[in-house]
Amino acid sequence: MTGRIIDGKAISEQIRRQIKSDTDRLIERGCRPGLAVVLVGDNQASRTYVTNKKKASLAAGMKSELIELPSEVSQQALLNTVDRLNRDPSIHGILVQLPLPPHIDESAVIQAISPKKDVDGFHPENVGKMIIGQDSFISCTPAGIMELLKQAGVGIAGKHAVILGRSNIVGKPMGQLLLQQDATVTYCHSKTENLETFTRQADILIAAIGQAKFITADHVKQGAVVIDVGMNRDEHGKRCGDVDFDSVREKASAITPVPGGVGPMTVTMLLKNTLKSATQTCSNYISTNG
Ligand code: GUN
Repeated sequence: MTGRIIDGKAISEQIRRQIKSDTDRLIERGCRPGLAVVLVGDNQASRTYVTNKKKASLAAGMKSELIELPSEVSQQALLNTVDRLNRDPSIHGILVQLPLPPHIDESAVIQAISPKKDVDGFHPENVGKMIIGQDSFISCTPAGIMELLKQAGVGIAGKHAVILGRSNIVGKPMGQLLLQQDATVTYCHSKTENLETFTRQADILIAAIGQAKFITADHVKQGAVVIDVGMNRDEHGKRCGDVDFDSVREKASAITPVPGGVGPMTVTMLLKNTLKSATQTCSNYISTNG
């Protein structure tokens, strides 16, 4: 079997066209969605992600504000920036790119973001609502993966989904979203013993561990759907995921490539969340002011 490729780039482009047309309609009603992205320090990978997010929001017709702060910025100065953005009516989404320098308390910064503008879905209020199935902002990478599975026609109910990785950004919310759609979910992580015993049972395998080509054909059941969240460089400096694509594809029924799989969907879900925030705020405004 050679698995079909789930083309995240193509699916993303289609969703972004819809987001752009919805954004245009909102602008006609006098409300332009605005996204603020805060970058602290000079981590090169973070800079690349942030630049992509800015470009994508501008391409969708949104306002985009990039705030760059030096790595030695104080926690208080960063909190003041977040507070200013919370109160700025032209900003509907606030994203503070992680990781932050070690002297800054990441959770204090996340909790300072207004849950109504938390388009990353990291605030405890949004995480809690997501877990109990209430409407909330959902972390962009797992939300993007759910959309990929839907568009690729992958059935979830009753399937065994195995998640590799337990980060707050990807692994934990991923399992919850799959559980809500009636998957049986197993979490594996760096301390899991006999990892292959679990991964070989997966109907849907989500790899989010950050180790280049770690998942090989030996880890995978025949016919599994394999989703690769990794963004690494191989020994030749070429971009690759957590999955050894060529060998795993021979066993999988469907697989996401890196690049061009999950990555574009993360940015697309950020735009979707920003549009949702603006739509909610602006319809309040329009209904209050005629
Ligand atoms: N760092 C890696 N992924 C993300 C993300 O989705 N959002 C933020 N804010 N930081 C990240």
